Amino acid sequence: MAVLEIVEWPEKVLETRAQEVVHFDDALRKVVQDMHDTMDDHNALGLAANQVGVLQRIVVMRIPYGRKDGPRMWWHDKRFTLINPVITKTEGRATLSEGCLSFPGIYEYIQRADEITVQAYDEQGKKFEVSGSEYFSACVQHETDHLDGIVFVNRMSRLKAALVRKKLQKQLVMSQGE
Ligand code: NI
Repeated sequence: MAVLEIVEWPEKVLETRAQEVVHFDDALRKVVQDMHDTMDDHNALGLAANQVGVLQRIVVMRIPYGRKDGPRMWWHDKRFTLINPVITKTEGRATLSEGCLSFPGIYEYIQRADEITVQAYDEQGKKFEVSGSEYFSACVQHETDHLDGIVFVNRMSRLKAALVRKKLQKQLVMSQGE
């Protein structure tokens, strides 16, 4: 078990596009395992490789719950490894509150597609396709954005994004002053 260090904004690796995985080997499986360990250690719902400083298209996810009082979904509590994920279908719009390990303490409502279908490879190189809505959908979109170098602040309104950046810069200055 290895818990990796989380890269926080404004590190450039968060705004850099990650490369397609070509070799489905033991080195890849080690990164995948470490990413699951890191996600679990932080009680996060998802993690993209950029967030641990690895510029490869790898996402891990595990969503233990859904909307309050909502029905149990097939993806609840299921562990996902999405390598080279591609969203092939989107439907509708939905707004959910999101956070991000690379932006500690920031939670904002983000509008995204309501339902998505994603194609990806597992760590053995086997292709699969899954569809889902709600937190599953938001999480896949949030994490695949990371792989494209897009952070969730880029999905906020201009005004909200400016406020978040200002808040984070203030936190940064304060932590440097300690
Ligand atoms: Ni994130």
